Amino acid sequence: MSDLSTIRSEALGAVSAAADLAALDAARVAVLGKKGSVTGLTKTLGAMAPEQRREFGAKVNELKSEVEAALEVRKGTLSSSALAAKLVSEKVDVSLPTRPEGQGSLHPIGQVMDEVAAIFGEMGFTWADGPDIEDDWHNFTALNIPPDHPARQMQDTFYLPSRADGTPVVLRTHTSPVQARTMLNKNVQKRLADGGSLRIIVPGRTYRIDSDATHTPMFHQVEGLVIDRATHMGHLKGCLVDFCRAFFEVDDLPLRFRPSYFPFTEPSAEVDIGCSWKDGELRIGAGDSWLEILGSGMVHPNVIRNCGLDPAIYQGFAFGMGIDRIAMLKYGIPDLRSFFDSDLRWLRHYGFSALEWPSLTGGLGR
Ligand code: DAH
Repeated sequence: MSDLSTIRSEALGAVSAAADLAALDAARVAVLGKKGSVTGLTKTLGAMAPEQRREFGAKVNELKSEVEAALEVRKGTLSSSALAAKLVSEKVDVSLPTRPEGQGSLHPIGQVMDEVAAIFGEMGFTWADGPDIEDDWHNFTALNIPPDHPARQMQDTFYLPSRADGTPVVLRTHTSPVQARTMLNKNVQKRLADGGSLRIIVPGRTYRIDSDATHTPMFHQVEGLVIDRATHMGHLKGCLVDFCRAFFEVDDLPLRFRPSYFPFTEPSAEVDIGCSWKDGELRIGAGDSWLEILGSGMVHPNVIRNCGLDPAIYQGFAFGMGIDRIAMLKYGIPDLRSFFDSDLRWLRHYGFSALEWPSLTGGLGR
């Protein structure tokens, strides 16, 4: 019996002495665990006479409940003081100023693509895409540049290993192959057959073996294509005049259409915009100089035929322009290579707010 009262006072003492939840759990194990002191008492019951067992067993159960209740009370006290301590140590000072957040900006190339898309979007063009890794047929042959044609030398091509079936593969040298990919699309052909028209722009990456202040091995172009039954050279001129005036934000910007040669257009024209130079600085607008900014023309009947359409029914115009080049001209960026240097100071200087989406009504540039 004295054993019982010793064990009782030791057990309750350990519970009330526990200074935190971990110590309390250790006390619980020491009393009620497999090898605990109270558990030890229940093991002695088996050897007792029935009368004694009933009496002692009841006392042991009583003790067990008493200890469990004490554990519960102590646990409540310790948890609330642990929470109070945590609240004090993790106090948040809401009056502190916020940490400065670095604000990102849009790269001028992305910005200019969006500006170009905003202008052509108003004229009913949609944005089309194609693969950077292109087969020789879409990049050249479909566009009226057959194998061994001297025009292939106009572009210094990166050749990739041929496909398993022998198809030659290149990094696309221009965005023009998307013309072919689009005209060959069955839905597009159906729309044209139903009397509709095709108007796309294709902003994207292009690749040529070239590297100096005005050439990088990867650069960006935007292709344009209009196909229907009636579009003529006058539409080409009107469309490009409107585009250039809107893009450079000069209402009376003079344009010059110069006869040129491209295998995929006939007739072909290069387009220059008027400009002047003052103290080494370029001004876009009226002046005595011209800057070439794009190539264009009426889509060659061979291209229309190669793309599964009848050139006796369908016609239209196409154009191609360097995104990087028009970005440099519009925003006075002197070196093409700086576009791709990932220099944060440059990006902060020439970057654009991501929250100001360019539009003809809301403003295109900064
Ligand atoms: N693909 C030509 C180039 O990369 C640019 C071009 C010129 C595209 C005339 C056209 C076009 O669609 O009609 O140099």
